[in-house]
Amino acid sequence: MREDMNNDRTRTLTDSQINLGTHPDAGITVEAVGQRLRQYEVIAAIGEGGIGCVFKARHRVLNRSVALKVLRGEWADDPTFIERFRREASTLANLNHPGIVAIHDYGESGDLCYIAMELVDGSTLRQLMDAGEITPGRVLAIAGDLCAALSAAHKCGIVHRDIKPSNIVIDKQGRLKLVDFGLSKIRQPQSSEFTLTTPDTRLGTPVYVAPEQWKNPQLADERADIFALGVVIYEMLAGGKPIGNFPLASAKAGLSPRVDAVLSKAMQNDPNLRYASVEDFHRDLVRAFRKKSTVARNSLIAAAALVMATASAFILPHINAPARRPAHIPALTNFPSPQKISTSPAAPVSDDADSRCEY
Ligand SMILES: Nc1ncnc2c1ncn2[C@@H]1O[C@H](COP(=O)(O)OP(=O)(O)OP(=O)(O)O)[C@@H](O)[C@H]1O
Ligand SMILES: [Mg+2]
Repeated sequence: MREDMNNDRTRTLTDSQINLGTHPDAGITVEAVGQRLRQYEVIAAIGEGGIGCVFKARHRVLNRSVALKVLRGEWADDPTFIERFRREASTLANLNHPGIVAIHDYGESGDLCYIAMELVDGSTLRQLMDAGEITPGRVLAIAGDLCAALSAAHKCGIVHRDIKPSNIVIDKQGRLKLVDFGLSKIRQPQSSEFTLTTPDTRLGTPVYVAPEQWKNPQLADERADIFALGVVIYEMLAGGKPIGNFPLASAKAGLSPRVDAVLSKAMQNDPNLRYASVEDFHRDLVRAFRKKSTVARNSLIAAAALVMATASAFILPHINAPARRPAHIPALTNFPSPQKISTSPAAPVSDDADSRCEY
């Protein structure tokens, strides 16, 4: 039984013999995959999506832990999904970035297609959000890692087209990896044209998918990923999806309203009104987050001035000394009140300033 990228798919075992995905409801078990892929010790199921089941495994000879993604049984005979799986593997093989999961191997063993990749020992962003572990303080770092990974893919002419929290995995040291390039699109060399990694039988996940991608998946370019990125960052800050009459992320996360303006620009329905690049989006996001510290600092100074003024008014007259404001404390009226600062309208997002992207 050969298991490399070039072999033909042969049915050396029947489905019933290995109890592997015999019908849509059948699960692919640890035992079944272990029986089929003898070079791996298959340890446990660690994830599942619409296309694949993912297992923690160890390569017996290399003694290396891997994540084994196996095409689900219900798609095992479907050429469209097999092609999608092959293209996912080849896309990953052509990307090399610390924020994108690395591929180790691809194979087809009988009717079992698998991708062996770097094992991310951690949780998906979805799991972390559900567990309440994504505080506003973590969001900028996660957004920065996401932008870096996506920027690397875009520079290679690859649009992910399925950015969502369950396709973002963060290990226990906080390192982020983008997974699941099964819906990605590749730009032809020397051309502005894209080809799809697979026929568009599945478009992605509602709410994260940009309107033009819904209408015609072939229209999706880098800006479709920026749309999805905006939704994911909104969700991390606001604790819910931007559906219906959704609250402002800044209000939920205690940030400057500038953050709302940046996210709104990323999530515009018209791709021409969105950021043109992930770098531009990241630059403005960093600036908007920094606005928070300005607000906080002003609030602190205003509060300190208020205390001093109160002391001047009520305490100093009683100790028979002239009430004097220290020279370094400005008059209270010079400070905007915290309320005024937090309710000021968002300034428009500028596109013209220097880049602060750090990747
Ligand atoms: N390299 C990895 N390391 C650890 N866990 C992983 C890895 N790759 C995937 N997973 C887990 O497996 C789940 C499913 O993987 P993946 O998203 O690639 O499958 P899919 O079937 O293509 O998903 P979708 O339904 O989004 O198309 C992920 O959400 C994640 O929990
Ligand atoms: Mg997925």
